[in-house]
Amino acid sequence: MTKIDTPQEIDRTVLCVSARPDELLGKFLAASGWQAAHAKTTAIAERMIERDNIKVGLIELPEDCTLQYLSALEACMRRMETNWVAQIAPGQSDNELVSRFILDYCFDFVTRPCLNERLIFALGHAHGLSNLRKTQVTPEPSMGRHEMVGQCEAMLQLYRHIDKCAVTDAPVFVAGESGTGKELTARAIHVRSPRSAQAFVAINCAAIPPTLLQAELFGHERGAFTGAVQRKTGRIESAHQGTLFLDEIGDMPHECQAVLLRFLQEGTIERLGGTSEIKVDVRVISATHVDLEKAVEDGRFRSDLYHRLCVLRLVEPPLRERGGDIKLLANYALSMYRQDGSRKIRGFSSDAVKAMSNYGWPGNVRELINCVRRAVVMSEGRFITATDLGLPQSANAPVATLAEIRSKAEKDAIEQALQRHGYKLSEAAADLGVSRATLYRLMHANRVNQDGAAGRASDTAAPQNDDDSERDTPLVSVSTH
Ligand SMILES: Nc1ncnc2c1ncn2[C@@H]1O[C@H](COP(=O)(O)OP(=O)(O)OP(=O)(O)O)[C@@H](O)[C@H]1O
Ligand SMILES: [Mg+2]
Repeated sequence: MTKIDTPQEIDRTVLCVSARPDELLGKFLAASGWQAAHAKTTAIAERMIERDNIKVGLIELPEDCTLQYLSALEACMRRMETNWVAQIAPGQSDNELVSRFILDYCFDFVTRPCLNERLIFALGHAHGLSNLRKTQVTPEPSMGRHEMVGQCEAMLQLYRHIDKCAVTDAPVFVAGESGTGKELTARAIHVRSPRSAQAFVAINCAAIPPTLLQAELFGHERGAFTGAVQRKTGRIESAHQGTLFLDEIGDMPHECQAVLLRFLQEGTIERLGGTSEIKVDVRVISATHVDLEKAVEDGRFRSDLYHRLCVLRLVEPPLRERGGDIKLLANYALSMYRQDGSRKIRGFSSDAVKAMSNYGWPGNVRELINCVRRAVVMSEGRFITATDLGLPQSANAPVATLAEIRSKAEKDAIEQALQRHGYKLSEAAADLGVSRATLYRLMHANRVNQDGAAGRASDTAAPQNDDDSERDTPLVSVSTH
């Protein structure tokens, strides 16, 4: 015999949040197959939701509820796993504050008195939807083994390359556009290398004035130059036995390149103003968003230094080539910043997903994360839209079919010819290479206005005998090659 789930057999607990327990409500719910749990405050409600994994909540909104009151409810109502039904007084939905709150945080609402079928229907629906979410929604994306989000083929290959680079001490150069994750890659290599217990020292060569860069890298002795009031250990020395990450190496000034090359060749440094050579054991990883090969070609970067740094070379894929990872990263950013928004944001609308995958992301992952963060704050609804993301609207425009393109081109050609010839059909038809009858028929089919034809009735009148042989000849053909 088929076993049927009765309401009691699936967990049908409804958490009622109100100042005091409502006995009548409790009895009504019990008679309808629901078990009522009561929470006096939102703090208690939050703990109960977490502990008992409650899927449905019933929140009583007092008639005189204020913004402060509603704000206090938000913390526990924001949780994705619970669907809330609000219980309001008659007419209370006209209150803008209340209606906005319901729209943002509740699945449904019922008007008091509400011990009726409508309430049971709303609770059942909320419960069903909650279950659906559990089974359908993919878990929030989390950092993978390499502390990066991404599963596309290009990223999987990058992970494999990171693992290979991690086991050797050879210098690695990481290429890639700005914001693609070059620093994350450098850190991932270090963390997986035998040097992981020692320091990872990063220096941004573009952010330090050229005159100070050398002192920053190599350190200086006291009195080495004006202002050198005490001895300073350089970044290279600080990275001893660890990893040195030279970020934006493409912006390193020429004189500094020469000293760096010496260090890479000999494994020793000399502090500015110092006399002794210091042996340093450092693994070097470098990165830049500029085209280093081009910089070498143009003479802006020493080729001998380039070959020293680029023993192993990794390339970060640009975000626009990562396919489904765009959505994954957007969800990851949403999970990071969801709490920043004033509303309970459930995800991205389908137009937003489409716009994100159509956009070129020149600022790559950094741009995507910032874009989602801004949208979380600015969003007006429960789902982030393309407009919230500030993405170009054209990115959302549906692609026109060939028939649509052809029809639009035909209509444009007719309109332009008519305008050129002051709406004289015979002349426009001759210009377009069709008979007057064909032009008339095409105007009709394309709903081309005959404005401007007034006073030329004889010319615009429908031809009496449609003797034309070009009936099926399109005015405009579109090549598919
Ligand atoms: N795959 C990823 N998963 C999660 N976060 C990422 C990923 N890639 C990049 N990020 C994040 O994007 C931002 C930019 O990353 P990172 O600084 O490593 O890029 P970059 O290539 O060094 O950029 P730039 O060339 O501007 O220095 C950081 O906040 C980083 O945490
Ligand atoms: Mg960087």
